[in-house]
Amino acid sequence: MTRPEAPPAHAAGSPPPDLATGAADVGAATFRRAWADLAPVGRSPDGAGYHRFAWTREDHALREWFAGEAAARGLDLVTDRAGNQWAWWGDPDAGPGVVTGSHLDSVPGGGAFDGPLGVVSAFAALDVLRARDVRPARPLGIACFGDEEGARFGVACAGSRLLTGVLDPDRARGLRDADGTTMADALATAGRNPSDLGPDHEALARVGAFVELHVEQGRGLVHSGDPVGVGRMIWPHGRWRVDLRGAPNHAGTTPLADRDDPMLDLAAFVQHVRAAALDAGALATVGKVRVEPNGVNAIPSQVTAWLDVRAEDERRVRAVLTALAAYAPHEESWTPVTVLDADLADEVATALGTAGLGSPRLGTGAGHDAGILAAAGVPTAMLFVRNPTGVSHAPAESADEADCLTGVGALAAALERLLTR
Ligand code: GLV
Ligand code: MN
Ligand code: MN
Repeated sequence: MTRPEAPPAHAAGSPPPDLATGAADVGAATFRRAWADLAPVGRSPDGAGYHRFAWTREDHALREWFAGEAAARGLDLVTDRAGNQWAWWGDPDAGPGVVTGSHLDSVPGGGAFDGPLGVVSAFAALDVLRARDVRPARPLGIACFGDEEGARFGVACAGSRLLTGVLDPDRARGLRDADGTTMADALATAGRNPSDLGPDHEALARVGAFVELHVEQGRGLVHSGDPVGVGRMIWPHGRWRVDLRGAPNHAGTTPLADRDDPMLDLAAFVQHVRAAALDAGALATVGKVRVEPNGVNAIPSQVTAWLDVRAEDERRVRAVLTALAAYAPHEESWTPVTVLDADLADEVATALGTAGLGSPRLGTGAGHDAGILAAAGVPTAMLFVRNPTGVSHAPAESADEADCLTGVGALAAALERLLTR
């Protein structure tokens, strides 16, 4: 990738281009309207966060919203074989293009920003580019990846994994949610043909470079004092399932000594996970369990626990798994370390510099579709927006509007550079 010298931000004596054209106002107006549109979708009335899961009514509303934004701008809407949505400015086959975007689904009880910030900022940045009368030399795509959190069917980044061929479509079709509904049935209910599911080389080949803007899921930018930063790497991470079996029986008539209670095994397991993570210098979490039959007055027959392990390097993750080998953890997904494209990160940083912004480099322990695309060979960069609480995957996730608008400006600057080089 070539690295041309940065163009001057604006000619001496003239106002910066966004002020001269009102482009910054355009971006702010788009951002505010789109944010307000999305705010009610899947929000729990008690303030306990968002519930936006793949192929549900909420997901449908979000997909319709995305399609509406594309239509309002005259963009070509494409849904790929994996169910990801793409809105193209310019002929997508005249590329490869530059793509930006993120996801709109959430974890259970999630915050408003993880995912939507990247999609809303993408539309706002496109509006900024148009207001500035930027003439792209290649197409610009806005992507909305499906089922990024894997909250319903268990596999994170299911949409981008299917797209790139790292998630087998047969396996995906057979994944079950907590009610036993398969992904195939959920797709059919949502009006899609489950047999369409699969890798989509045509959709992937259109992506010459991918830039994902995301709320920071930590406080690195709070500490550095910057509103935005540039991604450096994504930690290796994975999910495992542990099945703990026991003997179901009556809570009031079974002496303690006669019990085979898998809930006790769960308690021991959670303690082992914590100790193993401490030993290995890793992060490990048991955040989801299923108890069968889940009756208050019955000793369970089975407890299933899901384990999430991450660390700066794979050796530490494997050390945790080795320490827990007696529980026979079954791997449900794995993402190796992702070192994001250094040249693309430099280009993005240069663009931020021309916009008067710093560009601290950040690693992250959170997973992203950007990591899946990078692993598939797509030059990929990430832009992070400051999160004052540092909290994520919870209602306290936040970003100040001023920082979000700086993020839109930063994304527009990065896209302009990549689209016109
Ligand atoms: C997704 O956000 C993850 O990090 O699991
Ligand atoms: Mn997330
Ligand atoms: Mn995310």
